[in-house]
Amino acid sequence: MYHKKLKEFPKDFLWGAATSAYQVEGAWKEDGKGMSVQDLHEPEDIADFKIASDHYHHWKEDVALMAEMGLKAYRFSISWARIIPDGDGEVNQKGIEFYDHLIDELVAHHIEPIVTMYHFDLPLELHKKGGWCNRATVDAFEKYAKVLFENYGDRVKYWLTVNEQNCMINHPNAMNPGKTPTKKELYQQSHHMFLASAKATILCHKMCKDAKIGPAPNITAIYPETCKPLDAIAADNWETIRCWMYLDMAVYGYYNSLAWSYMEEKDCVPEIEDGDMEILKEGTADFLGVNYYATATVSASKNDGTDCQPRNGDQQVMLGEEGVYRSGNNPYLEQTEFGWIIDSVGLRVTLRRIDSRYHMPLLITENGLGAKDVLTEDGKVHDDYRIDYLERHFKQAQLALSDGVNLIGYCPWAFIDLVSTHQGYGKRYGFVYVDRDEKNLKDMARIKKDSFYWYQNVIRTNGSEM
Ligand code: BG6
Repeated sequence: MYHKKLKEFPKDFLWGAATSAYQVEGAWKEDGKGMSVQDLHEPEDIADFKIASDHYHHWKEDVALMAEMGLKAYRFSISWARIIPDGDGEVNQKGIEFYDHLIDELVAHHIEPIVTMYHFDLPLELHKKGGWCNRATVDAFEKYAKVLFENYGDRVKYWLTVNEQNCMINHPNAMNPGKTPTKKELYQQSHHMFLASAKATILCHKMCKDAKIGPAPNITAIYPETCKPLDAIAADNWETIRCWMYLDMAVYGYYNSLAWSYMEEKDCVPEIEDGDMEILKEGTADFLGVNYYATATVSASKNDGTDCQPRNGDQQVMLGEEGVYRSGNNPYLEQTEFGWIIDSVGLRVTLRRIDSRYHMPLLITENGLGAKDVLTEDGKVHDDYRIDYLERHFKQAQLALSDGVNLIGYCPWAFIDLVSTHQGYGKRYGFVYVDRDEKNLKDMARIKKDSFYWYQNVIRTNGSEM
């Protein structure tokens, strides 16, 4: 649809930027922090998460940079193991203090804190007891949520429960060191994460009267490879299993019926105890976080043993699944140097689809370009490719707004360079460069990239200049 005049970004639009604790903080065992499953990763050639961008020691300087850029919001995650080192026992006062200071500093600079409670970093001690397969983890999360609301509920108005639950179920390896769970176990984990989110949501509604809470799944429109009706069925299958199942639960508190028959078909229906469905129904979201990177294109299943084509990949790679869909090609879209599809119009498609289904306020909680940035000899980073990527996506967000989508904010990934989940510092996302290599920590200096100044102007003009 063409619009005669585009809607302006709302005056209180949350122009933000995002990070997650384990990818940016470092200080992996400082001041009483317990270990998380991420601390077990010790890759040979790339950075691990032990020091990362050392935000733990640079937080004040980092918030000053956020303020200089003009950020209205900062989405960050709290490390569960920093707050409760074994996930379920004593509270670590030093951990409480760290986020207390960070939140105070943000508020002092009029930056809205948007807090993710759990972003891939399950406390290791909980993992040893079965992690999300163990129902006790649901209660541990509720207890952790209570500690967060007690300590930060007076200042934090936006809470995100779980980051990319759908990716953790569809790409489980990095979250389950030691052993990849079976499909049945994964959907049990997913049920437990749904319950944990719902319980935290109920608690948030009781304890923090004017706060809003929601999930942050990775949502993307799925295209059929051709107009063949069976390709359309495959796209619908995968979009439902990958995306709608998670949002239907967050918004309506029930299992999507197509997703349920998929779980029956694949023998992975979770065990549901008495009372669970009531909790899920009660603990529904106030807004939806959306991590968007790329659309995917799929074709009809052949159901002949060749639908799933294993290949190296990460959370954006669609492998295909027997009897459900095959991974397809989209000749109209480019890719990043890391093989991720670039589809800015797909962001508009995705936002419109979510809006049609749920009519909820939407917050883009992640979107950005991972690239091999280069620091020039004169100390600059000319990331015009990132500016181009974000400009195209912001324009599509404005079109979605004009289409009627209730978009309340946009938090590109990432505020500052951080450890990419698979490529260390070889794949950078930030507006701010961190001067370190994979293994050589150098001086960790913070250097503003060209995109920093560009985004500063976008925010200053509330999106009217891009
Ligand atoms: C999202 C995650 O899936 O993608 C982030 O929530 C992650 O934690 C981001 O960093 C980019 O992915 P990657 O693999 O390039 O770091």
